[in-house]
Amino acid sequence: MFGELSEALVVRKRSKNRSINHLSRCDSTLGNPVRDRGRGFFLLNLNASVLSLSIVRLGLKRVLGIPVAALLLLGTSMSLHFDESTQSTETSKPAIAIADGVSSDTKPTFVGRDICKECHQTNYDLHAHHGHKSTFYLADDPKIAELFDGKTYDAGEPYGTYHYHTDEDGLYVTLPERFGDRPFRLDYALGSPEGAITLLSLIPDQQGNTIAIEHRASWFNATQKLGPTPQEAPGPMPVQAEAFGLKHQGNVMRKCVYCHTTAGEIENQTVVGLVANVNCEKCHGPASEHVRLARQMENPPKYSVGKADWDVESEIQLCGDCHRLPMTISRSELREYPDELVRFQPVGILRSRCYLESERQLGCSTCHNPHESVETVPMERHVKKCVSCHLESESDHVACPVSPKTGCIECHMPAKQLPGIHLDFHDHWIRVHEPQ
Ligand code: HEC
Ligand code: HEC
Ligand code: HEC
Ligand code: HEC
Ligand code: HEC
Ligand code: HEC
Ligand code: HEC
Repeated sequence: MFGELSEALVVRKRSKNRSINHLSRCDSTLGNPVRDRGRGFFLLNLNASVLSLSIVRLGLKRVLGIPVAALLLLGTSMSLHFDESTQSTETSKPAIAIADGVSSDTKPTFVGRDICKECHQTNYDLHAHHGHKSTFYLADDPKIAELFDGKTYDAGEPYGTYHYHTDEDGLYVTLPERFGDRPFRLDYALGSPEGAITLLSLIPDQQGNTIAIEHRASWFNATQKLGPTPQEAPGPMPVQAEAFGLKHQGNVMRKCVYCHTTAGEIENQTVVGLVANVNCEKCHGPASEHVRLARQMENPPKYSVGKADWDVESEIQLCGDCHRLPMTISRSELREYPDELVRFQPVGILRSRCYLESERQLGCSTCHNPHESVETVPMERHVKKCVSCHLESESDHVACPVSPKTGCIECHMPAKQLPGIHLDFHDHWIRVHEPQ
């Protein structure tokens, strides 16, 4: 079984540089994504209690005494203020109580998204069709397993051909050329069947520490096929479990789960307290208190986004925590703005004149209802937003000399497909592009 394999796992020594740089798989399309500069941000997140991320706690501006905007723009390190030791004493992990009733304890706990439906039907229904609703699965979920079961995938040299099968215990992969019929278990699936699915396994290394193996083959809806997972190439001859995927550990491993779930901690080789997907309470924070009070009074006290200190920068910080902020990207990449950066929308917005010169009026929710999938929004609605600032009759801002009323997105936020990813991203650095 995979236990055997992992016991024998020989952890290859990587250069120090490389492991620091490789912060996450979703960054891995970049050559050298993260420098020390990103560390503060990273540690901040790692303070993995959902409390720390949610809208509720965005008193960050005050904590640091520095405007968040400055940090966002400069990519300045926050590590000065945050290190692992202060983190652990500052925040204790929230207890996780899911769905079954609402506690009267004043420390808020998770209640699950179904409770919100009672009073927020519209947002509940919208969210049900958003990509956020499906970002994390157990690999043996029938929806996932059927994409792999019975298939083979030739990953080429030096790996070989993967063979997939399910049995009553889950989804497995074998590599007959190298390990005969010894199966390697695939535990979790990140992404969605509508986009792309990458599998992740948690196994012990030789010292008994948990490591994650990110499988080398992913499923792509666009091609309806398995294809190579976009990730860093390993050394010439990956050993043991690494023949099945790229190894992650520590913060990188935890963040991978963190960005795709509402709650959950890696303990030993499982995610405990798992609340899969990016649900209401990931952004709004544990809601038990809000629900308890809302059931007692017509006008409950402000919760998360309703609070007085909620503003555009808090929002960009919230979305950017997963969709990426400049501080997680190297200065040279920020300067050169390679195509890969189109994947990181907040990075583009923050350097757009629309944001910089509109007195911070432009946030993600100027154009996106955070509950509503882009898939269901007609392009004209986006154009209306542009025009609301860019038509003389509407505002003081300049109008387009080329096409004042239509087609803005194609010319000023063109879609790009990144090699190997099979997903379209719109360049959020809104600007005049050179004609192709
Ligand atoms: C018993 C009814 C009830 C339930 C259940 C409930 N809410 Fe609310 N919620 C309200 C009321 C009432 C308001 C204030 C008026 C409004 O904005 O609709 C509110 C406001 C909000 C706001 C706006 C910010 C504010 O404080 O004005 C958010 C965000 C929110 N709720 C999120 C949630 C989430 C997430 C859940 C599920 C975990 C949830 N609510 C469950 C009744 C409820
Ligand atoms: C910093 C937060 C973050 C981390 C860390 C992260 N992801 Fe993601 N992931 C995202 C966001 C945001 C998207 C959606 C935009 C995109 O595709 O870039 C995404 C998209 C994906 C998709 C495509 C989903 C689809 O259907 O469109 C897959 C697959 C995926 N991630 C797998 C992983 C795996 C595996 C890891 C860890 C090895 C990981 N991610 C780490 C934030 C993250
Ligand atoms: C990706 C983050 C995110 C998720 C997930 C999310 N919200 Fe929100 N929500 C926001 C933000 C940001 C705002 C403020 C939007 C604005 O300022 O226009 C908001 C506003 C609200 C409001 C007040 C304004 C309104 O639209 O009525 C309610 C109520 C609410 N959310 C409920 C929910 C519920 C219920 C869910 C889950 C079904 C949910 N949210 C999921 C980010 C999120
Ligand atoms: C909140 C208002 C606002 C919105 C919404 C907005 N912009 Fe802007 N935009 C500005 C401001 C302010 C400038 C700076 C020039 C000016 O004052 O008109 C600007 C500048 C620009 C420029 C010139 C960029 C450059 O680098 O020279 C383009 C192109 C542009 N916007 C396109 C768009 C498009 C397309 C949309 C919709 C997707 C949009 N804008 C939405 C406020 C906005
Ligand atoms: C000026 C308008 C505007 C603003 C502001 C804006 N977006 Fe977008 N966004 C768009 C448009 C237009 C699309 C493409 C919609 C479509 O494909 O139908 C899009 C698409 C996306 C997508 C889907 C993948 C892609 O790139 O096509 C994500 C994720 C996204 N935006 C995140 C964000 C985040 C996070 C913010 C805040 C930092 C933000 N957006 C701010 C207009 C905007
Ligand atoms: C906890 C991490 C996380 C946070 C916080 C987050 N996102 Fe996402 N977002 C994701 C992931 C992961 C995906 C990929 C989902 C998929 O598989 O399609 C995604 C997908 C999207 C998409 C494309 C899918 C769709 O159906 O439209 C949009 C647009 C988007 N996010 C906007 C936002 C905005 C706006 C915010 C802030 C209000 C935000 N996100 C906050 C993780 C996050
Ligand atoms: C066919 C491509 C195309 C379309 C469609 C288009 N633009 Fe433009 N836009 C351009 C080009 C090219 C320029 C630069 C013109 C110049 O410098 O003479 C420009 C310039 C601009 C500017 C800067 C004007 C200035 O004086 O600095 C703004 C703002 C702008 N466009 C907004 C928009 C908006 C809003 C829309 C949709 C209503 C839109 N554009 C549609 C191609 C386009």
